[in-house]
Amino acid sequence: MSQESFYERAGGERTFNDLVSHFYALVAVNPILRPMYPDNDLHGAGRRLQLFLEQYWGGPSTYSEERGHPRLRMRHAEFHIDSAARDAWLLCMKDAVNGLEIADDLKAELWQYLELAANSMVNQPD
Ligand code: HEM
Repeated sequence: MSQESFYERAGGERTFNDLVSHFYALVAVNPILRPMYPDNDLHGAGRRLQLFLEQYWGGPSTYSEERGHPRLRMRHAEFHIDSAARDAWLLCMKDAVNGLEIADDLKAELWQYLELAANSMVNQPD
């Protein structure tokens, strides 16, 4: 029986780096999302997201060492996240997930989580 984490099965740091770089390349040109992210620190935002996802999926716990408890809903409270922002975020993420060179069942597992997590981050009614 395999005891490997999703992180390992999916290819480790390289996969999460590919995912997040692809995602932020799309965020950088997205008219809804770009203004929400820090002007000069898209790279820092990318690093935070990558470390969080690596930790969530069983990789190194660097995220919490650097940032403490994730409390993601609370950390997103300062951003106006309505259904349009969620859809824009998911659209960029869908493209990034689809671009990964990993098995389809791993993509599906990753995507299911990201969709649920994005829904839980909405903090503004339509
Ligand atoms: C639903 C749409 C979402 C929007 C519009 C959004 C937007 C943002 C913005 C503007 C930031 C600040 C960037 C920065 O770190 O400086 C941020 C941070 C972050 N987001 Fe999101 N986000 C969304 C969903 C998600 C989801 C689904 C996750 C996790 C699966 C996530 C994980 C993170 C993490 C880990 C950070 C950094 C937190 C920290 O340590 O400060 N976000 N997000």
